[in-house]
Amino acid sequence: MPILKNIGFLATCKEEGGQGAIHPIRNAAVAWKEETIQWAGKETNIPDTYAEYEPVDAGGKMVIPGLIDCHTHLAFGGWRSDEFTMRVKGKSYLDIAKTGGGILSTVRGTRNASEEELYKKASSFLEKMSALGVTTVECKSGYGLSVKEELKILRVYRRLSETHPMHIVSTFLGAHAIPPEYEGDREGYIDLVIEEMIPAVSGEDLAEFCDVFTEESAFSVRESRRILFAAQVAGLTPKIHADQLTSCGGGELAAELKAASADHLEKISDNGIEAMADAGVVGVMLPLASLYTQEKPLNCRKLVEGGVKVAVATDFNPGSAPSYNLPLAMMLSCNQGRLTPEEALKGATIYAAKALNRDHELGSIEKGKSADFAVINAPNPNFWIYHFQPNDCIMTVSKGEVTHS
Ligand code: NIG
Ligand code: FE
Repeated sequence: MPILKNIGFLATCKEEGGQGAIHPIRNAAVAWKEETIQWAGKETNIPDTYAEYEPVDAGGKMVIPGLIDCHTHLAFGGWRSDEFTMRVKGKSYLDIAKTGGGILSTVRGTRNASEEELYKKASSFLEKMSALGVTTVECKSGYGLSVKEELKILRVYRRLSETHPMHIVSTFLGAHAIPPEYEGDREGYIDLVIEEMIPAVSGEDLAEFCDVFTEESAFSVRESRRILFAAQVAGLTPKIHADQLTSCGGGELAAELKAASADHLEKISDNGIEAMADAGVVGVMLPLASLYTQEKPLNCRKLVEGGVKVAVATDFNPGSAPSYNLPLAMMLSCNQGRLTPEEALKGATIYAAKALNRDHELGSIEKGKSADFAVINAPNPNFWIYHFQPNDCIMTVSKGEVTHS
């Protein structure tokens, strides 16, 4: 049984105390047995019980909870690098989508890929994420858009969760776009999502959450409510892609349905912020998506001051956020979203766990929680995020196992 010693700065990231309270312990140690943390505290106070645990040297560095990427579209076929150049030259995300690019382009690529191909590609992303200190990844479907193809993607996630020492959380996102075969028949597609996809997903227990892209160009608030209500009845917890490109009431709907999170929020209204705070819905900032789509970034200060807990995630997908670099998203959440580095750290740990309803077992370094940590080559969160480097993660421990060093 291992004990991590010589930790210069342990950011425990316990929940209480608000967005910026990371509850640090200097000169600390952490002991764990199999997958579970047994003890964390000052090195001078290590109880006798842990004296025989096998020491692992943290080299005086910072230790944080394993990072949690609470919003990704991990499994997809193909890429869309052509759209990157188009956007740089001035075409908008929506212009590109209207001419057959965007999500529907990845739907074609994903339908053409076998389950095995998707598995291998997603698996290689997970390995690289783990090297950055990530130990939990939420993964959405949404590039299949038929019963068979959505289940194919969700089965990839199930297999990843069985084969990777990371926590994989699956989300069904059948309402991501209207597929070409239902063009002109939105009602028909929504019926398919409600009457066939949701029962199939919940019947095979393939997802914990149901997400909807609530947007003028995608699904209206009324349509989203119908879909998410059906999902709730089937045992899936709602999440919403809300108020990304237009202010259309996605935040308010998330509050009404007591969704676990509302994500994006670049165009959230003041009413939406208030409703989310009252309902305890986590707001997820996705700064890579606003950067790549050249949209004005979300000002997280408004949310934090309005009483919303803010999580930070990558939104990794081949279109609007083709990077899985969570520390980079954290740096942007500071520079563009105006979070402090400590607030961003809480956003990528305990509040991200909250956005996945997993805060009882993940997201902080406390007795009884999953043994997930990252050793970071920095003296504290402020210096880590300020002096941003390609990869400062020296060691990752996921479910008690060293997955990167
Ligand atoms: O979160 N907004 C909708 N869905 C994704 C984009 C997916 C894509 O462009 O392929 C997002 O940004
Ligand atoms: Fe997304």
